[in-house]
Amino acid sequence: MYICVCKGIKESDVRSLGREGITCPKLLASTLGINDKDSCCGRCLKNVSNFVTIAIDERARSQSSVEA
Ligand code: FES
Repeated sequence: MYICVCKGIKESDVRSLGREGITCPKLLASTLGINDKDSCCGRCLKNVSNFVTIAIDERARSQSSVEA
């Protein structure tokens, strides 16, 4: 599912970054190239907390599967 139509970022892209431990808002935004008004239409900057939630969720899921 696309969560950024401008750059074609999929939810799976954010989950992949989460598995790599990239969960902080600034690092996620810069890695995805949505970190400023020149590179983002505004929609993703406004919703970066949703990206963080997805990344943290995936990070927790990957860590629990390693521990099991
Ligand atoms: S929807 Fe993500 S930069 Fe526009």
